[in-house]
Amino acid sequence: MEEFRYDMPWHKEDSPELIENQLYREVGTKHILYGKPVKAIARRQDRDDFIFYIEELKKFAIVHLTWAQRHLQDEYYPSTKLFKNTHEVQKKIDRDIKEWIELENTPFNETVGFVEGKRRIIIVGASSGIGREMAKQYALEGNLVGVTGRRTELLEELRNSFSGRIIYSAFDVTAGNSIEHIKELVQRLNGLDILIYSSGIGELSKGLDWEIDKLTLETNVIGFIEIANWSFNYFLNQGHGSMAVISSIAANRGNSWAPAYSASKAFQSNYFEALAIKANKMKKAIGITCIEPGFVDTKMAKGNKRFWLVPLEKAARQIISGIKKKKQKVYVSKRWWLVARLMRLTPFWLYKKIG
Ligand SMILES: NC(=O)c1ccc[n+]([C@@H]2O[C@H](COP(=O)([O-])OP(=O)(O)OC[C@H]3O[C@@H](n4cnc5c(N)ncnc54)[C@H](OP(=O)(O)O)[C@@H]3O)[C@@H](O)[C@H]2O)c1
Repeated sequence: MEEFRYDMPWHKEDSPELIENQLYREVGTKHILYGKPVKAIARRQDRDDFIFYIEELKKFAIVHLTWAQRHLQDEYYPSTKLFKNTHEVQKKIDRDIKEWIELENTPFNETVGFVEGKRRIIIVGASSGIGREMAKQYALEGNLVGVTGRRTELLEELRNSFSGRIIYSAFDVTAGNSIEHIKELVQRLNGLDILIYSSGIGELSKGLDWEIDKLTLETNVIGFIEIANWSFNYFLNQGHGSMAVISSIAANRGNSWAPAYSASKAFQSNYFEALAIKANKMKKAIGITCIEPGFVDTKMAKGNKRFWLVPLEKAARQIISGIKKKKQKVYVSKRWWLVARLMRLTPFWLYKKIG
């Protein structure tokens, strides 16, 4: 096989066996690489992207490993892009080298388009949906935004559309190393004023599926609290800042179609209420905003009963405004406040017919 020409950020893989074993561990039965022998060739130094050769397909693949310790039962993860031949892969490497050199020559205080006096923001879970739309709106206002998610290609696309105002870090919030990634982003942003946790999964679990329940807890509870806990202490030390979580109207009562989801959202809402009280007792001016949307027009809302569906652009605008005003609770849209109230007031004998 022909050797590639490498330079930063790519280099030849030094421990191919370790990387190949990690790939076998991650790919589930629905994944295109499942059961196919691979050869690890190279890695990107700044993120978990690896080049593999797949003999059976006679193709190369760039895979973003998540370092999960189990098979991901998903055809999209670990996210994988196939390349027909060495020429295509070399083109991709050359593009990354060029971008790397450009980035190296652009110190952050000279970041194109960053308006002095604006904010430095991190949105965890911004490769799609609400987080992505918020990132766009914040960037359009001139803020500097760090976005995260697992789908590198979507984050890259966002970064490229708002060059100089959006940077990204691709990582899995269930992998247990989020803080390292967040700290690195804060360093690259040169500070932090607002952190928003929008990562989440909302799978129905009608048959009380353990895999779904477990992943829901890992993403919406463990992944969430790891970052929320760190952020609160960061803002406490700093003396100012704001944090927000995109919880859900589902936080208000148990839901028989998605028990783990509604419980995980109750966890997020209660944790944020507790942090708001804590900040208040400590007389710290930290904004702690809990967002409870009804239905927002994203992929996640599809398949649900879509009454009072809020357009994505409007939802993001209302959330940004609520964070700016340091509100403790924001319903999206406002009329969902009524639903939350009714949900809480309805006695169990009646609620059990609909919940
Ligand atoms: N849409 C609604 O109607 C609605 C209503 C109420 C509440 N919410 C809440 O709003 C939040 C955003 O949802 P959305 O509608 O915008 O859905 P979405 O488009 O699916 O966005 C979810 C985001 O979370 C990220 N994410 C999921 N699992 C992750 C993991 N393990 N590691 C890292 N990132 C992960 C996804 O990125 P990758 O896949 O690239 O990793 C994506 O960026 C969720 O918490 C959801 O519960 C939504």
